[in-house]
Amino acid sequence: MFRFGCDYYPEQWRQWLEEGEARWEEDARLMAEAGFNTVRLAEFAWALLEPEPGRFDFAWLDRAVQVLHSHGLDVVLGTPTPAPPPWLLAAHPDITQVTAEGRRLAPGTRREACANHPVYQERSQALVEAMAGHYAETPGIIGWQTDNEFGCHGSARCYCLHCQAGFHQWLQARYGDLEALNQAWGTSFWGEIYRDWEEIPLPAASAAERNPSHLLDFYRFSSWSWRRFHQAQIETLHRLCPGHFVTHNLMGFFPDLDYYQLSQGLDFVAWDNYHYHGATPGVVAATHVHMWGILERNFWVMEQQAGQINWSVVNPAPPPNFVRLKTYQAMGHGADGVLYFRWRQALAGSEQYHSGLLDHAGRPTPGLEEARQIGQELQRLAPLLEGTAPKARIAILLDYESRWALQIQPHNHFLRTDHPPDFRLENPALSVDREEELEERFLTGSAFAAWPFLAPYIALWEANVPVAMVSPEADLSGYDLVCAPFLNLVRPQVLANLQAFVEGGGALILGPRTGVKDASNRLFTQPQPGPLAALTGATVAFFDSLEPDRRNELRWEPHVNRMGRETAVGLWAEVLEPNGAEVLASYTQDWYAGRAAVTRREQGSGQVIYVGCMGGPRLYHTLFDWLLPALGIRPLLIAVPGVEICARTGPDGRRLLFVLNHTRHPQILTLSAPKVDLLTGQRFVQDLPLQPGDVRVLQVAADQG
Ligand code: GLA
Ligand code: ZN
Repeated sequence: MFRFGCDYYPEQWRQWLEEGEARWEEDARLMAEAGFNTVRLAEFAWALLEPEPGRFDFAWLDRAVQVLHSHGLDVVLGTPTPAPPPWLLAAHPDITQVTAEGRRLAPGTRREACANHPVYQERSQALVEAMAGHYAETPGIIGWQTDNEFGCHGSARCYCLHCQAGFHQWLQARYGDLEALNQAWGTSFWGEIYRDWEEIPLPAASAAERNPSHLLDFYRFSSWSWRRFHQAQIETLHRLCPGHFVTHNLMGFFPDLDYYQLSQGLDFVAWDNYHYHGATPGVVAATHVHMWGILERNFWVMEQQAGQINWSVVNPAPPPNFVRLKTYQAMGHGADGVLYFRWRQALAGSEQYHSGLLDHAGRPTPGLEEARQIGQELQRLAPLLEGTAPKARIAILLDYESRWALQIQPHNHFLRTDHPPDFRLENPALSVDREEELEERFLTGSAFAAWPFLAPYIALWEANVPVAMVSPEADLSGYDLVCAPFLNLVRPQVLANLQAFVEGGGALILGPRTGVKDASNRLFTQPQPGPLAALTGATVAFFDSLEPDRRNELRWEPHVNRMGRETAVGLWAEVLEPNGAEVLASYTQDWYAGRAAVTRREQGSGQVIYVGCMGGPRLYHTLFDWLLPALGIRPLLIAVPGVEICARTGPDGRRLLFVLNHTRHPQILTLSAPKVDLLTGQRFVQDLPLQPGDVRVLQVAADQG
């Protein structure tokens, strides 16, 4: 069943409105009328559910659940651990985190608590057990969202004494003895030799740059700390509520927590889809694909932006059709649920300027009108979505430890893999039909575009070729082409996985900066790409790091670049030395003009392409135009720029094509065979017209391809 609904805060309306709880009835009626079937509640309601230590008050939430359920709405309950109550923080002021600069956070908002504080852990568990015990059999409750956005507001890493003690224990478990740690961190550099575990500092603010091995282990430890905190909740909820699902709302490409590990044990993941400046349609698509790949199954959008947000720089009003377009985009990429944030705009609290489906005065917004339309359309569409999921023959590998290694030492500031400082200032007008501008973003490293793993994704997205994004430790045997655009750090299991993939006949594309670091974040003794050099048949002689206004240009072998595309290189250029590999492209500029930039080596029936430079989507278009036909991989449909096509496929091969016009202009697609739009029932023979922001869902029978 497709889950459609919103995030709702009955406790707020009870307090804020004179009519009190009577308003719940009206809200529930309007939700049901919009076609909603699911509501999320209570993820910040700890202080209301446990008003004094150990005394739980579930009565108000029981009533809210009942009102919603009586209107046919099912409930997802949040465990309200991101907002510990004032009584707990007052009794234990050291629950709040300490920043890298050594400042203790003041209490009183949310996400201030430290994952390693024993009292916070204990009280969180007691609360989760009480809620799970109370609601295990309550009619209308279908599942749980753990906590809320772990790591949000910069809360993934804490530098308090509890974390210091925890870090020491974690290091002892990992290394056993100090000699092994000193070895792994290379502590003879700057004389950091540790003779007692207690001597090891947290990598807080310091005079000079930190040892990258020390930092990487602290990133791992911090991610593991939240994972442990999370696992305790997942385990409790599954044990006490066997009939319920458990999920968590992730934050897309958030860099600080290893989402593969954080999500283990969840029934499915969910994420919160907000469209701050820079979240171009291709970037949003990439995020859905990343979310699907975490557990390699369909996901939910637990918070879908439904109007203006309050936390960006300018916060423009979304254009007409925005909510409908974003909802169908999520669905097309494998969302089995979309809930809007939030039902009604808050009258009080820090998010007063954040829109809801109702405005503060209770009037319906354009977002609600669009949601109502979807509610209607789902009557026909929802049954057809059952059992369908995105399917891809290409996988992009996203590795958190490589991301951290590059984040710790980006070497070129414009290649940062965390949120660049200006990401909220991205140009809101940047749209997919301005290809030049997008290309430029990649070459100068502005905001999202600089993320090294996005250039190949965007190229495939523009070509409407389905892609998955998975962990480098995932089973790759189902894919024909695997692209690892930034495998900076190579763990032994990853090496073995890639070797097996290529030996099995797979095509592997490696990007620049691959195979630089070992699992301890030290350089390999072999030349780059380290242990992968046997696969690539080429090594890196040296690299150049380019200022954002500097470019190189590639000269491709004519059989590769048949269309004669100009493919510029920006920010990073590795000069390759082939040793068994053929050269696909060379540089044309600077003192390394004529030397290899892209190589290819056949390995049995498999092949390995090494791209030693950073480019934009055009570089990858050139490569894919040549490679994909040879692998028999075709686009879903040939579309026009800015019109996205994504698909869900059923076990019987039946396919639903989602056609999404992200441009602000009318567009016309040319169909190769007549198709019916499932949303309107209209049949189109050849021309498929699309209004700005328009969506069509076309059914394709298994044998139609
Ligand atoms: C996040 C949180 C919500 C709310 C929204 C506002 O996603 O999960 O509680 O703060 O942002 O955009
Ligand atoms: Zn701490």
